Amino acid sequence: MSGSLIVDNIGELVTNGTGEGPLGIRRNAAVLVEEGRVVWVGPSPYAPAADHHVDAGGAAVLPGFVDSHAHLVFAGDRAAEFAARMAGQPYTGGGIRTTVGATRAATDDELRATVRRLRGEALRQGTTTMEIKSGYGLTVADEARSLRIAAETSTETTFLGAHVVPAEYADRPDDYVGLVCGPMLAAAAPYAKWIDVFCEQGAFDVDHARAILACGQAVGLGVRLHANQLGPGPGVQLGVELGAASVDHCTYLSDADIDALASSRIDCMCHEGRHTTTVATLLPGAEFSTRSPYPDARRLLDAGVTVALATDCNPGSSYTSSMPFCVALAVREMRMTPAEAVWAATAGGARALRRDDIGVLTPGARADLVVLDAPSHLHLAYRPGVPLIRQVIRNGVPQ
Ligand code: NIG
Ligand code: FE
Repeated sequence: MSGSLIVDNIGELVTNGTGEGPLGIRRNAAVLVEEGRVVWVGPSPYAPAADHHVDAGGAAVLPGFVDSHAHLVFAGDRAAEFAARMAGQPYTGGGIRTTVGATRAATDDELRATVRRLRGEALRQGTTTMEIKSGYGLTVADEARSLRIAAETSTETTFLGAHVVPAEYADRPDDYVGLVCGPMLAAAAPYAKWIDVFCEQGAFDVDHARAILACGQAVGLGVRLHANQLGPGPGVQLGVELGAASVDHCTYLSDADIDALASSRIDCMCHEGRHTTTVATLLPGAEFSTRSPYPDARRLLDAGVTVALATDCNPGSSYTSSMPFCVALAVREMRMTPAEAVWAATAGGARALRRDDIGVLTPGARADLVVLDAPSHLHLAYRPGVPLIRQVIRNGVPQ
């Protein structure tokens, strides 16, 4: 779409910038977009003329959701594993190898179709930025092709060759770590922005995780980590030690983990004035789908840790692409306020990806907007399971 766009008659505009409360709310507002960017935010009665016009009709408008943690490149599903869990089986991560088998057997076009289907599903639910991980290939060729396919859809791509040790390396995990740090990283790095490790008992221990993440950093990849999902462990503190952008899951945290995250706080030019270098990304879809205890979001927030919310969309532990569902879970099950949850799903996700051009609706930001079928952001938690996304504008283009 060429030319300018005005979105006016916005009853409640969440800017995550200057305005009322932590969401920087403005009432009866308008947003002017030019060349994919927000160029003006102000009172609706003063809205300038533009080439194109969207009338929000008094509804709420939010920045598009930033889903900073998703595993979209896979084949098959694990519905039977889910049913077994709901009948009492615990989640151990063992099913990852099932998906690895199916993914290796799939064609490029099959994988591509799944990525596009899930990305489309998420977009219709208001997600305008979505991180995509590899991690179900676990050979040099399959990790490289997973990332090549992910990169067709997102610039936020993450190499997760260290998801689990594949069956053929079960007796020699050191050799697998060597493969990940050597030829696999070399093949994956051209398509990846980030590196991630599943640091957990049964996956990779802290020494292997440190070695792999250091190799990724050495070739310019940013660090993120799956940590403290299934039990307490050293992952969160390793993430802080390495300056990770985000440690994800954070279901089992000690006081020392919280202190470490809080100590990564820095002053910034951002709206909040301070944030933690390492964000705690919470993935309540995983606790929902594995029937596990939810992370203690309040403890993190009260300690001043920056919190993001993401879907963890994957066929095993969290097969949802819905950020509104995660917002509702965070409010109901994790005692986040609706404002904290909406911030975490937008600006928080942007922080977890070290982006300052998304997750906000202020002049200069990317024009990623969601028009709700509701008068307020509160409705995302108040009306769970209801399709409240009326319109999505991505990069200034109505979808
Ligand atoms: O983030 N924890 C590791 N990886 C995924 C689950 C993957 C799977 O079960 O297939 C997660 O929950
Ligand atoms: Fe994950």
